Amino acid sequence: MSYTRPHLLGIEGLERSEVDFLLDTAQEFVAIGQRPVKKVPTLRGKTIINLFLEPSTRTRSSFEIAGKRMSADVINISDKASSTTKGETLIDTALTLEAMCPDVVVIRHPSSGAPNLISKHLSRAAVVNAGDGLHEHPSQALLDALTIRQSLGRIDGLKIAMVGDVFRSRVARSHLHLHRILGNEVRIVAPPTLAIKEFRELGAEIFYDMGPALEGADIVVSLRMKHEYLKDFYVPNLDEYSKKYIVSEPVLKKYAPDSLVLDPGPFIRGIQITSEVADGPRSLIAQQVENGVAVRMALLYIMSARRGELGTEDAEEA
Ligand code: CP
Repeated sequence: MSYTRPHLLGIEGLERSEVDFLLDTAQEFVAIGQRPVKKVPTLRGKTIINLFLEPSTRTRSSFEIAGKRMSADVINISDKASSTTKGETLIDTALTLEAMCPDVVVIRHPSSGAPNLISKHLSRAAVVNAGDGLHEHPSQALLDALTIRQSLGRIDGLKIAMVGDVFRSRVARSHLHLHRILGNEVRIVAPPTLAIKEFRELGAEIFYDMGPALEGADIVVSLRMKHEYLKDFYVPNLDEYSKKYIVSEPVLKKYAPDSLVLDPGPFIRGIQITSEVADGPRSLIAQQVENGVAVRMALLYIMSARRGELGTEDAEEA
């Protein structure tokens, strides 16, 4: 098992063996975060650039922590602090950064396809997609899969229900690709304006009511209702949305009593998920965040160290 691709641009098109390899490698890194001294020399001398041209708390900080835990030099560039605000193109920015010889460029960008575009122009650095427009958020899907695997002991043969603004969710799209690879059953529940036909083509069954969508689900994925887009009139208002689609304990108890709940965050209490669920025993949210560091350590390690030659035993040694 290995991952020999030069970049990680999405989950789409990955082989099951590659997913297993990435998760096995990440699992080996979980223990480092639980040690009193959370530092290993694995990536000493390597340089990671985090180019985040869109806001992020979890993804940006966990890629930074991941690199630093492995002793890499980590440079963070944000939207306002980058020369893209002065009119420099993304390609010129990427080429400028590559001239400084980074091993990995991690990029979050509001435009779908931006990581793919820069990967075509960089000849030495690996590109990792940290979320691009409405396209994909592969490291989020991988950390969610790791969390599911730790909790249920498997990542296949599952019923997954995704609730919320799937239309504007790159997490939902990466999940759909992932569950197709794993052979899981996926149900999407959202207002008709957000549950678009594209998701059927990715293997999802679409529902407009919580009950039938959640029936017997092993995992419920709560997704943020992107209220900054309310002016686009996809839902009348947040109260109306919330009445019908909030992930709450009574609904889970009735339709999916044994389910566990994931939320990639940021999540909005009282709109998409109740505090009772977010802070309750079904919630895997804190575990997701913790696993985010381990998954990103695995990605940086695989992308920057002896690409194509690694086995999970190398990660065990770290
Ligand atoms: N889940 C996620 O991508 O969160 P951030 O936007 O905070 O990185």
